Order: sequence, then structure tokens, then C-alpha cells
Amino acid sequence: MLESVLIILPKALWLILPAYVANSSAVLFGGGVPIDLRVKIRGKRILGDGKTYRGLILGTCCGVLVGIFQNQMAGLLGGVIFPPVVLLSLAFGALFGDITESLIKRRLGIKQGAPFFPFDQLDFIAGAFITLWLTSEEWFLTHFSLDVIITILIITPILHLLTNRIGYIIGKKDVPW
Ligand code: CTP
Ligand code: MG
Repeated sequence: MLESVLIILPKALWLILPAYVANSSAVLFGGGVPIDLRVKIRGKRILGDGKTYRGLILGTCCGVLVGIFQNQMAGLLGGVIFPPVVLLSLAFGALFGDITESLIKRRLGIKQGAPFFPFDQLDFIAGAFITLWLTSEEWFLTHFSLDVIITILIITPILHLLTNRIGYIIGKKDVPW
């Protein structure tokens, strides 16, 4: 049991890393013009100030760049190669999932920054998985085995709460969740 966890955990983290980096880079480098251009529907913002063009673009770029670096390392480690479309799907898909969650939160009347557990923690994972599945089904099914997916679903909320606390302390997030 412990042995298999020790094998699956690093594998799972390596595979989802471009999505993790995309999501956290959006928080680190985001800000500025909101994607919804402050448009409201029935008195409520479409997405809110927490979803910006800069976060989306820089987040996607950082996720893809990390994946390119991982591909360079794959030669050394004998690891997986992420094709370009896979990297784009993981990075952009993660942020697309996060945006979709904000859209739903606003329609439900949940204010920007207010918690919506566990969706705040898993929105970007769902976005990355679904996008990757749509663009690269075979690659997705080959690499994201059920044990890898379950590991990611368990470990992500824990990591997310931890990194958000750091983001709050360094002043990048308005709330510690
Ligand atoms: N961010 C951004 N652009 C994005 C995603 C995130 O600029 N596409 C930045 C914003 O500064 C945002 C922060 O990252 O406030 C944290 O993102 P998140 O926790 O997803 O948003 P919240 O501010 O909590 O808003 P929401 O209630 O819509 O989830
Ligand atoms: Mg979110």
C-alpha cells in the first residue's frame, strides 16, 4: 500500500504540474482588467474582479513553460513527454475551469472571494481533465489512470488550502482559502 502510494504520488504530481503552475501563476501574476469587463447580469457580475485577462494569459504561459521544462527533464528521467496540445489543455483548461466556477458562483449569488468548498479547490482540476479529455483522449486515458486521478483529487484540496494561506500571507489573495 505505502509502496504504491510512494510511486503514484510523484507520478500524479508530475502529470498535473502544468495545471498547478497555471493556476497559481494566475494568482501570482493576475490583476488588471477583468475578463467580464465589469458587465453585470441581473445586478450580479458575470465573473467578478478575480478573473482577469492577465491572470488567464500569464497563467497559461507559465503552465506551458513548466511543461516544456518537464519535457527537457524527461530525457534524463525517462519520463513522459507532454505534446504541445496536452500542455495547452492542462494549462488553459485549468484556468477555464476556474473561470467556469466563478461564473456559477456569481449566478448563485456567492460574492467574489467567498468560499465554495470543495469547488474552489477542484475547479481547475476538473477544467484540466475535461479539456484534456476532449483534445487528447488517448493521451489522457493512457497517463491519467484511475489511481492517478484519485490521488490528484485527494491531494489537491490539501495543497490548495496550504498555498492559498501562503498567498494570503504574501498579500496575493484577499482571503486565506
Ligand atoms: N486571478 C486572476 N485571473 C484569473 C484567475 C485568478 O487575476 N484568471 C487572480 C485574481 O487576483 C484573484 C486571485 O487570482 O483574486 C485568486 O483567484 P481565485 O481564488 O480563483 O478567485 P477569487 O478572488 O476567490 O474569486 P471567485 O469567488 O470568483 O473564485
Ligand atoms: Mg476559483
